[in-house]
Amino acid sequence: MISDHLTEARARVAAAHSIAVLTGAGISADSGVPTFRGADGLWRNFRAEDLATPDAFARDPRLVWEWYSWRREVIASTEPNPAHHALVRLETRAQRFHLITQNVDGLHRMAGSQHLSELHGNIWEVRCTSCRLVTDNRDVPLSLLPYCHTCGGLLRPHIVWFGEALDDCILAASMHAVESCDVLIVIGTSGLVYPAATLMPIAQSHGGFVIEINLASTAHSSTAALTLQGRARDIVPLLLKE
Ligand code: OAD
Repeated sequence: MISDHLTEARARVAAAHSIAVLTGAGISADSGVPTFRGADGLWRNFRAEDLATPDAFARDPRLVWEWYSWRREVIASTEPNPAHHALVRLETRAQRFHLITQNVDGLHRMAGSQHLSELHGNIWEVRCTSCRLVTDNRDVPLSLLPYCHTCGGLLRPHIVWFGEALDDCILAASMHAVESCDVLIVIGTSGLVYPAATLMPIAQSHGGFVIEINLASTAHSSTAALTLQGRARDIVPLLLKE
């Protein structure tokens, strides 16, 4: 069954002029980055309300920074896997390509993806809560809270927290990509977080062929045109093999 699906999916990708890809935590799980909602998912063991909301940061910025510093440590020891690399090769040969990720780990950037929208931000970037300047900052001190070199304001992770809106430009570019694609490949996301979860139905309503790659069934598996079940690091390179 998977080989029939794979054959059809490969033909669709080969014939597509415009390809969009949406990734979630499942693609980075194969690099050792924890997912959010699986058996060992982060939201099984931590409360998002205490760690990933503007209120949590206002209440206890040190706790929030400790949590992000811990996640930074985990991510720092990981590397892109064959699925991330296969998407870089796809980008070099596709006529039009746009990669949209919900992941904040920066592994797509590290692999070399260029045409990339990081919907939920990037864990290696910080934003000043006062002047709003965004900078790359890998050395946030654990013992002290980090402050802006320009205006002295408190720095926060440049990540979209629960209850916050996505960056308008990034969202618009992502919407445009899925509205205009022939094929949307959705890799390793539960599809439960909005507005990212709307990208699949939007692609379909504009005639895009949606291929889902996931270890398990999701809320979108029954509506995807094709589902390839398995690990991203195995399936993505097989799908995109030249
Ligand atoms: P989830 O943790 O909700 O879902 C991960 C998905 O990956 C599940 O559907 C798994 O079945 C699948 N999966 C796990 N391992 C896999 C593997 N090796 N290969 C393929 N699939 C695999 O993660 P997301 O959908 O990415 O928000 O979560 C969306 C957002 O919720 C995240 O961006 C995060 C979180 O709150 C922010 O950080 C703002």
